[in-house]
Amino acid sequence: MMAARAQNFVCQSCGAAFPRWAGRCEACNAWNTLVEEGAAAAPARSRHKGRLFVIEPLKGQTHETPRLASGMVEFDRVTGGGLVRGSVLLLGGDPGIGKSTLLLEVAAAFARGNRRAVYISGEEAVAQVRLRAERLGLTEAAVELAAETSVEDIIATLLHGTTPRLLVIDSIQTMWTQAVEAAPGTVTQVRASAGELIRFAKRTGAAVILVGHVTKDGQIAGPRVVEHMVDAVLSFEGEGSQQFRILRAIKNRFGPTDEIGVFEMTGTGLREIANPSELFLSERELGSPGTAVFAGIEGTRPLLVEIQALVAPTTLGTPRRAVVGWDPNRLSMVLAVLEAHCGVRLSGHDVYLNVAGGLRIQEPAADVAAAAALVSSLARAPLAADAVYFGEVSLSGAVRPVAQTAARLKEAQKLGFVRAIVPETARTEVPDGFSLSTLGTLANLVVDIAGDGTPPLRRVGRQDA
Ligand code: TYD
Ligand code: MG
Repeated sequence: MMAARAQNFVCQSCGAAFPRWAGRCEACNAWNTLVEEGAAAAPARSRHKGRLFVIEPLKGQTHETPRLASGMVEFDRVTGGGLVRGSVLLLGGDPGIGKSTLLLEVAAAFARGNRRAVYISGEEAVAQVRLRAERLGLTEAAVELAAETSVEDIIATLLHGTTPRLLVIDSIQTMWTQAVEAAPGTVTQVRASAGELIRFAKRTGAAVILVGHVTKDGQIAGPRVVEHMVDAVLSFEGEGSQQFRILRAIKNRFGPTDEIGVFEMTGTGLREIANPSELFLSERELGSPGTAVFAGIEGTRPLLVEIQALVAPTTLGTPRRAVVGWDPNRLSMVLAVLEAHCGVRLSGHDVYLNVAGGLRIQEPAADVAAAAALVSSLARAPLAADAVYFGEVSLSGAVRPVAQTAARLKEAQKLGFVRAIVPETARTEVPDGFSLSTLGTLANLVVDIAGDGTPPLRRVGRQDA
């Protein structure tokens, strides 16, 4: 029997396979990513007739997904209440961001609840993992350790004893299976190894966490494919010099994808930050123009964060627009509305917008806060330090209401703010001692901040507490 022509050249970026080498992958257009890999050992083709299975009606018993909460609040929040039995999660992040640290702590939290937790390191020796545990104060944790890279050996060993509740594989790029001939680290190996481990999870009900390295361009190296195979993908992120880390769900078959967990990397491991607003506002420069505090919502949790803007006359032909932590299209829209409806001329100015602390904001509710920061910078008029801003801006310049006003105000009050600049139609209970200034249009805001002699926070609404 003639085998079909093997597709031996596999793109290490997207996983597409080709019969011959090329400089550029035809599937994802990446350059120099094709690597020759051993073909998968062809499965013996037995022509079995097919097993009969039961087809059930849609109507029927449902069971709540059984979850295993680790006990680490921030980690459990991001996974949607804990790990689902038999599920596989991929944790991506830059080298050195703290993936191994996080997972050792998660494994220890599991073990604390008398649940078997096994941590397999393919990158570090057992001694190195122990050193880290020492630093984390976890030497007494009942986590089981091994430094192994052979998937078959790992699975055989684990099938031997009681099934672990949690299996951590650090990292998937170091694993290899005999099922394929390709070298460790190649897409073919990573995909096959992940496949074996996923089967192990489904068969035994163990929750498996795979660590995946991220390449320079932010992709989990090689296994884009693995992202599609697993049940959940989390990403662990941090901003260069800063000590805090954000855990974010990118995909989750069993939970939300908009929750974040916030940690601080300390000398003795990761500290969970129960109140991230405090952290994101901690380095705030009071009284300088160009900064506004946005009362946002991340998932189910209110989060206050500072938006910083710098508007300066441009020295080049085309003005620069640079934005970190927010959608550049959203910025363009706010700038256009300021020009078109509020008489704010920005076409001769460079505009820089930054969300403090390396947070990424997705909500349109940040429009008003961003506009406030921009106008404040342009007019060199500092905003009141005790006010928060939120509201969506429409193309007509109207300020539209956003969801969860009450939660935003409550968080603001908790952190010592006493007023909020909100959309006119935001009807909500106002916390005691708190006042609202309402905006019908973005032009109102501009007048309030830059307006002729009017105090920056003239009350414009009748809705005061
Ligand atoms: P690590 O978990 O090894 O990162 P990853 O597995 O993502 O590559 O963490 C590496 C960094 O974290 C390293 O630079 C040292 C620092 N670190 C701390 O600051 N405090 C600690 O308690 C630990 C264990 C690590
Ligand atoms: Mg590591």
